[in-house]
Amino acid sequence: MGLTRREQVLRALLGAAAASGLTTLILILVEATNVLLPADIKFGIVFDAGSSHTSLFVYQWPADKENDTGVVSQALACQVKGPGISSYTSDPAQAGESLKGCLEEALALIPKAQHQETPMFLGATAGMRLLSQKNSSQARDIFAAVTQFLSQSPVDFRGAELLAGQDEGALGWITINYVLGMLVQYSFSGEWIRPPEGMLVGALDMGGASTQITFVPGGPILDGNTQTTLRLYGLDHSVYTHSYLCFGRDQMLNRLLAGLVQSSPAPLVRHPCYHSGYQGTLSLASLYASPCVHTTAPLNLTRNLTVEGTGNPRACVSAIRDLFDFLSCEGRADCAFNGVYQPPVRGQFYAFSNFYYTLHFLNLTSRQPLATVNTSVWEFCQRPWKLVEASSTGQDRWLRDYCASGLYILTLLLEGYGFTEDTWPNIEFRKQAGGTDIGWTLGYMLNLTNMILAEAPAQWRAESYSIWVAGVVFMVLTLVAILGAAAVQLFWPQD
Ligand SMILES: *[C@@H]1O[C@H](CO)[C@@H](O)[C@H](O)[C@H]1NC(C)=O
Ligand SMILES: *[C@@H]1O[C@H](CO)[C@@H](O)[C@H](O)[C@H]1NC(C)=O
Ligand SMILES: *[C@@H]1O[C@H](CO)[C@@H](O)[C@H](O)[C@H]1NC(C)=O
Ligand SMILES: *[C@@H]1O[C@H](CO)[C@@H](O)[C@H](O)[C@H]1NC(C)=O
Repeated sequence: MGLTRREQVLRALLGAAAASGLTTLILILVEATNVLLPADIKFGIVFDAGSSHTSLFVYQWPADKENDTGVVSQALACQVKGPGISSYTSDPAQAGESLKGCLEEALALIPKAQHQETPMFLGATAGMRLLSQKNSSQARDIFAAVTQFLSQSPVDFRGAELLAGQDEGALGWITINYVLGMLVQYSFSGEWIRPPEGMLVGALDMGGASTQITFVPGGPILDGNTQTTLRLYGLDHSVYTHSYLCFGRDQMLNRLLAGLVQSSPAPLVRHPCYHSGYQGTLSLASLYASPCVHTTAPLNLTRNLTVEGTGNPRACVSAIRDLFDFLSCEGRADCAFNGVYQPPVRGQFYAFSNFYYTLHFLNLTSRQPLATVNTSVWEFCQRPWKLVEASSTGQDRWLRDYCASGLYILTLLLEGYGFTEDTWPNIEFRKQAGGTDIGWTLGYMLNLTNMILAEAPAQWRAESYSIWVAGVVFMVLTLVAILGAAAVQLFWPQD
């Protein structure tokens, strides 16, 4: 006896349900193995040899996705104990040795089998820039010692070098825009798209010895010395960047103090940026050893000076203004200070390193309006030292300096770079984005390992996405077939 029509339809539907259900299952398994079987992870190591200290960063990324953007993440950040490498002039070998602890931590994290293929870089910034200006043979000795030490490690050490200020700014800009996915993005259909250029964010970096501003201006860049062209994913970006040597936090503090010593030659210096009730001593020799202090040193450098805080923000701002040459830019809209060309700031900015640390200490990183920030910093400066000390937890060698750095940052951003009450909210004070510290190091590694493609990839990986789409389609088909079968069973009367 042949099958009835009803039975035929029912069998067909159940068969279809079984087939597409099986396909769904297979697709899910394929995708799951993709996700669950860990892809090979690659690693890279970068030392950031700053003026006041050295940090090490280990980055990691899936080997099969290395040309994608935003896939590199930070696996380790380690602070090297002791001062920056530029301080080891009397014993260069120690500069190399000082890196040992962090290097060992990094090697412990990276599987042994991968040590040989892991690239490692060391980049030095303004501290070494200043030293090589002052005594280039000392700077060479330190680079040689550091290179010798790092060459002995089992990883692929690619060299230690001095970064130009311009590159430091540009690499910080690359880092933040890479991490935020602003250079190139995937659309949901698996194609790559480029976010509009206006979404690129500017970068404000402040180390111990220098500070950088980098952004894409609205118009042409009229001074070639401040312009750098970055070809990323098939598009040329014309980026404005300038690095101000001696405008980093520590050198600014030295210059500020030297200025005050100069104007009050008594053995007692009254410091308006230190809190009232603060008293400390200061070694003149170390102050005048700073390469950014150009005022003539007093005759007797072995003397110690007593510094007394007066907690006077108005006088502090006035002393800070003296560190800038605003006159040289007077009447020019496209000039920041010290005669440096700068187009008007444009778009969103990320301010990191000492910008962040200072505002974070002052509880001012949550996009407060400028007026609130101003008032809070002034109030903090007027707080008696006793209270400041009492409310601080543990050791903070910068405790007495936050008032000065806070007012300095305001002066630099507003009077120097030309941010206003209206553009202030465009500045985001952040240490990290997407779990990665913001700074020049990631951009440096991406650039030197060619992980940012110069040209747009012809076709981006879309397999994973299509597998999901197919999975969903087959799942829907399975459901439709099952519902159809159920409907036949329920509503098609048996003959
Ligand atoms: C990344 O791009 C480079 C240059 O186009 C290519 O040689 C390399 O195979 C790519 N790597 C991956 C994992 O796709
Ligand atoms: C640089 O340092 C070396 C060694 O410390 C010293 O012998 C030399 O005189 C210094 N040169 C200058 C120009 O100061
Ligand atoms: C990127 O690396 C190349 C060498 O590979 C170098 O010439 C270039 O200056 C680097 N870019 C930046 C912004 O440092
Ligand atoms: C920041 O906030 C914390 C917690 O509210 C407080 O203890 C600290 O004193 C504040 N810092 C300043 C500088 O006001």
